[in-house]
Amino acid sequence: MDCLRKAKLLVFDAYGTLFDVAGAVRRMAPFLKGKDKELALLWRQKQLEYTWQRSLRADFADFEQVTAQALGWALESLALDSGDLKAPLMALYRELEAYPDARQTLEKLKQTGRQTAILSNGSKAMLAAAVASAGIGPYLDAVLSVDPLRIYKPHPSVYALVGAHFAVTPERVAFVSGNYWDASAGAANGFSAIWINRTKALPEPLPGQIKAVIQQLSELPGLLA
Ligand code: LAC
Repeated sequence: MDCLRKAKLLVFDAYGTLFDVAGAVRRMAPFLKGKDKELALLWRQKQLEYTWQRSLRADFADFEQVTAQALGWALESLALDSGDLKAPLMALYRELEAYPDARQTLEKLKQTGRQTAILSNGSKAMLAAAVASAGIGPYLDAVLSVDPLRIYKPHPSVYALVGAHFAVTPERVAFVSGNYWDASAGAANGFSAIWINRTKALPEPLPGQIKAVIQQLSELPGLLA
């Protein structure tokens, strides 16, 4: 597709796009009484819900705090003992695994001469830890966090961080997210948006026209060639 081929900058969402958010729970599965899948879903759902609550209330708490609060609530509602589980799960979340194809895909995209960046709700500290543990730092030109704005996606000011950091117009940006609501918001803010739909999820009736849907990161270099 022409608009994707012309992209000079690739911007990636972090959690659920480059980093596998279910990874922390998977590693602790033996201690979760068969409730691991339920916990992973509930934790993520509450984490996102609290970011939206915080943004609408104009009462920001950083992503680490919101993530910990969501975990505490999810553990308690599933009758799992948060006293023993919360600290190790949060420690694993700080060093989430990247999807297996993340590093190689970023490397290939850099070889095409394009710039790459992360644009994420994550706090600066969390993103730095996850990028370092995944070993993807050398393939990223910038890691942009919502921290200085004190508001979360999908607020338009978050997507505007890209134009403020890179001297590039939105139409030369390809925005990649595994979260439909985030990809569509990227599109609504002028980017060529690519949705990674790993779970064959249903698109949602939200504004913003997605340009392409793929199932894994490794499809990206072909899509942009
Ligand atoms: C992020 C969340 C949306 O990384 O996954 O911004």
